[in-house]
Amino acid sequence: MNSRQFPDGFLFGAATAAYQIEGAAFEDGRTASVWDAFARVPGAVVNGENGDVACDHYHRMPQDVALMKSLGLQTYRFSTSWSRVRPDGGAVNAKGVDFYSRLVDELLENDILPWLTLYHWDMPQAVEEQGGWTSRDTVDRFVEYALTMHDALGDRVKNWTTLNEPWCASFLSYTAGVHAPGRTDIGDGLLAAHHLLLAHGRTVQALRARDADLDLGITLNLTVADPADADDSADVDAARRIDGQFNRWFLDPIFEGDYPSDIVRDIREVDADAIVRWQAAVHDGDLDVISAPLDALGVNYYHGELLSGHAQQEGPAGTPHDTEGQQRQTASPFPADAGIHWVERGLPRTGMGWEVQPEGLTRLLQRVAADYAGGVPLYVTENGAAYDDVVTDGAVNDAERTAFLRDHVTATLDAIEAGVDVRGYFYWSLMDNYEWAWGYDKRFGIVRVDYDTQERTVKESGREYSRIIAARAV
Ligand code: BGC
Repeated sequence: MNSRQFPDGFLFGAATAAYQIEGAAFEDGRTASVWDAFARVPGAVVNGENGDVACDHYHRMPQDVALMKSLGLQTYRFSTSWSRVRPDGGAVNAKGVDFYSRLVDELLENDILPWLTLYHWDMPQAVEEQGGWTSRDTVDRFVEYALTMHDALGDRVKNWTTLNEPWCASFLSYTAGVHAPGRTDIGDGLLAAHHLLLAHGRTVQALRARDADLDLGITLNLTVADPADADDSADVDAARRIDGQFNRWFLDPIFEGDYPSDIVRDIREVDADAIVRWQAAVHDGDLDVISAPLDALGVNYYHGELLSGHAQQEGPAGTPHDTEGQQRQTASPFPADAGIHWVERGLPRTGMGWEVQPEGLTRLLQRVAADYAGGVPLYVTENGAAYDDVVTDGAVNDAERTAFLRDHVTATLDAIEAGVDVRGYFYWSLMDNYEWAWGYDKRFGIVRVDYDTQERTVKESGREYSRIIAARAV
């Protein structure tokens, strides 16, 4: 088969997040984030694990950048920790800022483009105790923190992402209670989502005012919600509701300056008080701020879903952490959650129980470009798979992850060839790391981390990715 080339300028990278890799949780002035607190709540995280040490990246940063270089990465997506930079949401911590300044220098010296995310879920616990994302004041605190990062790095970092996956930081965290801070209230989730979006818009405006040349974007976790039977109204309605919650609740305000009225109606039916509270929180002018023009949209894609409005045969029994589907069902602020059913379609599944569906990525990119992004370039800012890796003679021959990566990179190219402006792909993740409520149980890396020794080993998937990057082709 002939190889297919990626366009010039297409970027290949890998992604991580501060809390998941840095460790050094209470060093050099950093104070607790919501994740430090949540990880200590009995039962919140598998094995009660926390990010105190994680991959010890804080102390091993230069070696980790050398590893990126050896893999041939062109860009590296990382997040900065609010609690390290402005502990407790207060005064600037020079040592914390300095870590990111050194990281950026190290990346640039190695010709790796820094791709900075300001918020990947680790709000200072002190800010949460003042209301967290349910409080409008948090928006001001966030913009202060964003400007601190720009003061420090604006001369060297061009690509800025305001938020990673506001769905997770709101509904999964404030309504489902599965992620920090572990609250379980529909109204809290709605307020959190709105204030996150407002923080995004205010940050875009503030950074833009400082430097018109910055490349500014947001990263959303999006899904492809297909009805089991496109002629069955209950199935179509189940797909509408999931699409509304995951995709349109964020895409509509960002690109169209409006919230989806069908979802507002659904939520009102189940919790009218929550909608009253949320409406009071959405002030005049907020949606203009939220829909400030962007230079990039980050799409995180792991899998789609096949949905039905009719009860299905029971799948394998599991824990509340078992599949994202279950997390989502718990998280759903919709009426009649019980009326949405995930349909088994016999696709292979990853170690998270998530279906492997590369063609969904192609369709998702096409749909987002057609319905929303218009001329805004898309980047796949996360895509990856956890599997139970086996170490044999020091090597990890992760054939499933290798195929997953190749198939999704190819699905990205399919979208480009279909005319979508996709300009980059970041594998999640550079290395095994702290997988939130799953602790260290799930490994997504193309580099293995031995948590006893902190030794890094490039897996076969990492080698395959290097070959793809070198050839710029699949
Ligand atoms: C998050 C990552 C996470 C990955 C796998 C994404 O939702 O941004 O932090 O590790 O999914 O669960």
